[in-house]
Amino acid sequence: MSARDDLAARDARVCWHPYTQHGLEAAPLAVRAAQGAVLTLHDGREILDAISSWWATLHGHAHPALVEAMASQARELDHVLFAGATHEPAVRLAEELVAAAPAGLTRVFYSDNGSTAVEVALKMARQAWVQRGEPARRVFVALEGAYHGDTFGAMSVGDPDPFFLPYAPLLFEVRRVPADGAALRAVFEELGERCAGFVGEPLVQGAAGMRMHGPEFLREVRALCDAFGTYWIADEVMTGFGRTGTLFACEQAGVAPDLLCLAKGLTGGTFPLAATLATEALYEAFLSSERGRAFFHGHTFTAHPVGCRVGLASLALCRADDTPARLARLGERIERELRGALGDTPVRDLRRTGGIVAFDLAPRPGEAPGYLSTLQPELRRLALEHGVLLRPLGDVLYALPPACTSDAQAARIAAVLAELARYRGVSA
Ligand SMILES: Cc1ncc(COP(=O)(O)O)c(C=O)c1O
Repeated sequence: MSARDDLAARDARVCWHPYTQHGLEAAPLAVRAAQGAVLTLHDGREILDAISSWWATLHGHAHPALVEAMASQARELDHVLFAGATHEPAVRLAEELVAAAPAGLTRVFYSDNGSTAVEVALKMARQAWVQRGEPARRVFVALEGAYHGDTFGAMSVGDPDPFFLPYAPLLFEVRRVPADGAALRAVFEELGERCAGFVGEPLVQGAAGMRMHGPEFLREVRALCDAFGTYWIADEVMTGFGRTGTLFACEQAGVAPDLLCLAKGLTGGTFPLAATLATEALYEAFLSSERGRAFFHGHTFTAHPVGCRVGLASLALCRADDTPARLARLGERIERELRGALGDTPVRDLRRTGGIVAFDLAPRPGEAPGYLSTLQPELRRLALEHGVLLRPLGDVLYALPPACTSDAQAARIAAVLAELARYRGVSA
């Protein structure tokens, strides 16, 4: 039995994987190592990671500066609670995030992952309303198709279909709008003083199918939140740290949210750490001589020293390498190669923001569209046969590779995307 078969068999006996139908899906990739943009499997195959391992790996796998930051921090201070204690990596990373983020975000609350970053923002907004004497404000507004994570608050602001339908009776009230100023205004008018805030991914809605909107919508969001006196929560868990061509997507609109959620690329995609940045006004809504007005939220590993230290190293690399510009150039190259490779293969809405390139497959009669389509695992398998890791979002194919991806690797990603579009076309 090969090492790969052995691992797959052991995995099948004891593991339960995320977003995986074990009754249908093939054995998982048995990954032995990762370097740069390449995953090495136990059977010796090399697979190009065109999706940055769930949109996290920013500079490339096993970047020496990041590995060294984690190792040296673990030797010095491995973990300490963050209630009633502090440490240099947490304070320095908070200082740097405040300096790098859109102006006005002055406070950093750490947690572990993208879902908790969103959960924290929702809870801060809600509790602030209660403490500001407006307890009726409990309805959030979110974008159609949104995905913000898998905890209950994050699921509530996400679109329930198809992932969260079983939990729908347990989720709180949310209104959904398209990325359109007039629609947002209408729902703000209707909700009036019941509105707790607007939550959205700026510029690119990732799991919604890499849906893209322009920076003008973000300026409308800011203006409308100001006009209606409510909070704007920007979820930059996916878009943050250069993916859209600027360090944060909000920068492109020249506006700042009241709460900013960060994870994934915060540590260069190496370590589970998240941050929710808040304005001073929000922080002050909790500041009191009454203990009961504190923000009662915290995780065991809040502000983990290793995560904070590697976060600092990753930010330093973002600056030294100009990662946002590098990702934008990489996206341009993939788009150009893809247009060439597609030729007259029919696809819909080939689009790009920064380093994210996506298109929709042309519809095929009688085929169920969307995330649960049977096409998805088929396309994933085909891409792997060509040595590239992709995870189509239903009918949407996309690339979101790490910044270290070479020109030759970019060309290969584009060629495989075009191959998948053709495969779908000919078997129609
Ligand atoms: C925009 C957005 N928000 C939140 C999350 C949840 O992050 P995590 O999976 O780290 O909980 C994701 C994950 O893909 C995401 O894309």
